[in-house]
Amino acid sequence: MGVRFPPDFVDKVREANNIVDVIGPYTQLRSTGANFMGRCPFPDHNDKTASFSVSEDKQLYNCFGCKKSGNIFTFLQIFNGYSFPESIEFLARRANIALPERDEDPREKKNRDLKESVLSLNRLAASYFANSFQKLPASNSVRVYAEKRGLTPEIVETFQVGFSPDDWQGLTNTMKARRIALPVGESAGLLKKSSRAGGESHYDLFRGRLMFPIVSTSGDVLGFGGRILGEGEPKYLNSPETPVFHKGRVLYGLDVTARFIRSQDEAIIVEGYMDAVALYGAGLKNVAAILGTAFTPEHGKLIRRMTPNVVMLLDGDRAGIQGAERSLPALLAADIRPRGVILPEGMDPDDFLRERGVEALRNEMERAGDLFTLLLTRHWMSGYRATAQDKLSVVEQAASALAPAGLELLEQAMAELFIGEMAKFLDVDSTWVRKTLTSKIAALSGRTPRPVAVLSSAQNSVPSLDPAKAVIGEISRHDEFQTSHSAQILDSASTGPTAMIDLSSVSREELAALGLLLQSKFLMEDLSEATKEWFAAGGAREDHPIAFLLDDPAARKVAGIALRKYGHQPEGFATVAASLLNSIAQPEILSKSLSEALSGMGPGSPIGASAESDRRQMARILNAIQRRRKQVDLDQISRRIREMKSQDENKDLMEKFVIIQRELREIENERRSFDRE
Ligand code: UTP
Ligand code: MN
Repeated sequence: MGVRFPPDFVDKVREANNIVDVIGPYTQLRSTGANFMGRCPFPDHNDKTASFSVSEDKQLYNCFGCKKSGNIFTFLQIFNGYSFPESIEFLARRANIALPERDEDPREKKNRDLKESVLSLNRLAASYFANSFQKLPASNSVRVYAEKRGLTPEIVETFQVGFSPDDWQGLTNTMKARRIALPVGESAGLLKKSSRAGGESHYDLFRGRLMFPIVSTSGDVLGFGGRILGEGEPKYLNSPETPVFHKGRVLYGLDVTARFIRSQDEAIIVEGYMDAVALYGAGLKNVAAILGTAFTPEHGKLIRRMTPNVVMLLDGDRAGIQGAERSLPALLAADIRPRGVILPEGMDPDDFLRERGVEALRNEMERAGDLFTLLLTRHWMSGYRATAQDKLSVVEQAASALAPAGLELLEQAMAELFIGEMAKFLDVDSTWVRKTLTSKIAALSGRTPRPVAVLSSAQNSVPSLDPAKAVIGEISRHDEFQTSHSAQILDSASTGPTAMIDLSSVSREELAALGLLLQSKFLMEDLSEATKEWFAAGGAREDHPIAFLLDDPAARKVAGIALRKYGHQPEGFATVAASLLNSIAQPEILSKSLSEALSGMGPGSPIGASAESDRRQMARILNAIQRRRKQVDLDQISRRIREMKSQDENKDLMEKFVIIQRELREIENERRSFDRE
């Protein structure tokens, strides 16, 4: 691959191969005089009449039914999933034309020779394993196991499934008989060397396993996966990385399935050998498996040559969804549009087929949504409660997942779609999503975000979300709960210095409550729980637990920030709360008000020592706050009554006010006597 062939070499290869002979094995062609006609060989066509024509003169094919047409090279590319150079290499080999000698330095030449020896040994090993399997009698436990796993004779043949005999010297002896140097076996990862007294000796790595050769789309055997028969460890033994085998660059089964992927314009990606084979056997032939790794950028390039449409069929376990999360950036970076299906708990595709059948699986795949949305709703948003910290956390998780693809990803058209999707699900501004994604991905990939992106999103920021404004108190009473909503989010995304929060107008009682809150993880936990309940009950803003606690906007702001920080870091909350004091203009008044309030209440345990004692202290401070609130209400009503009297207003209304005034005083007196007991 990647080899450039001179045009005259391409012509020579073209002339040495007749398109009729190349297509011949795939469909029966009959001469009609000028042309050859046959049923269309492309699997997606399912041609019942002979609508496929091949012209020997022009060396072209054309299907009147499905409209596919092209030359010998495009046929191999579409039918076998070859790249252009691969189709040339294939045809050159077919016609026994030596590939052009390349100018290589000796080291390169040595590498290439080693690769060739490893490939040729792999081919030998594959047939040794295949023959070993075929030689077994039908009653042999290996065959019984294979049969039980759905490996029909057709599947065994198609995928060249084999068996490595339980023999330490099986392959080793086969190599010796053919005078193949044993160190090549080591390079191929098929033999191991042991040095005991009396010299070195080699032995087989794969013993007593069902062997799945891993074959490239051009037909080279790159490595093997060997499954233990029944239970045991490791379940699969795979070839190590060798000069020809890199599991991040190959997909299992693709040699067989590339043509189906191409003609169906869709690839199903599964996680296991058995899953790939099972899907193929069930008629879902456009399948390939990753080999115990995530989908890599190389996998992306490989598949993208065949189709932009990928369905990830994920095992119904944590590893499945985590694998999908790790695969996402490579898929997107390859310009693939991935969809995803998570199978029910604990099932892999093979299990699913067995239990529910192929129609059920087809159904699942037809309904498959975007992989991104799947991860968003099923993974990043799991346990989501729509709090500010949850929103931020969802975007941060998405950013960490996407980071390996880098900031370029956000410039793709598709990114806009996902950003919009996230904004919709999280009920936030898409500008904020973009900005947060950008800065987080930049931070994770050690890059500075492109100034343009940041600038344009900054310009679009909603003015009412400016934290500085919230602090200065220009906002209406209704907007304060941006402390637990968007202002928080914006606050953490903005990098500039945050304005100091001014607590000078907060009452002493509220300052004490706030001071206590910042010192007690128990109270913080209570508040956090209450917030969850509030949210679950679909609470109105004015019923937020912080509103119950505090009246002053600046005090609420501090409590809101503390709540969010607690949500991020419950363990380290004490430190976090302490650092929060840095953003308060008068940090000392918090502890001063708290100690004043507590001194009037008799001795108690130190704050933070026990949940019960902290709650008792808070209850007392809350009583004081209630009293102050009552007092304010009383004052207001008294003033109103005075106004009414002086202006001789509506008498009925005034009488009502007087009654309320009396009731409030009675309640207040009751409370006082209660407090004293
Ligand atoms: P699974 O454990 O899901 O296996 O591993 P499976 O494909 O369902 O196999 P069966 O049905 O039990 O036979 C999925 C893939 O992870 C890699 C293999 O590529 C396997 O197909 N794997 C797993 C290993 O490489 N080694 C192991 O020990 C296990
Ligand atoms: Mn399985």
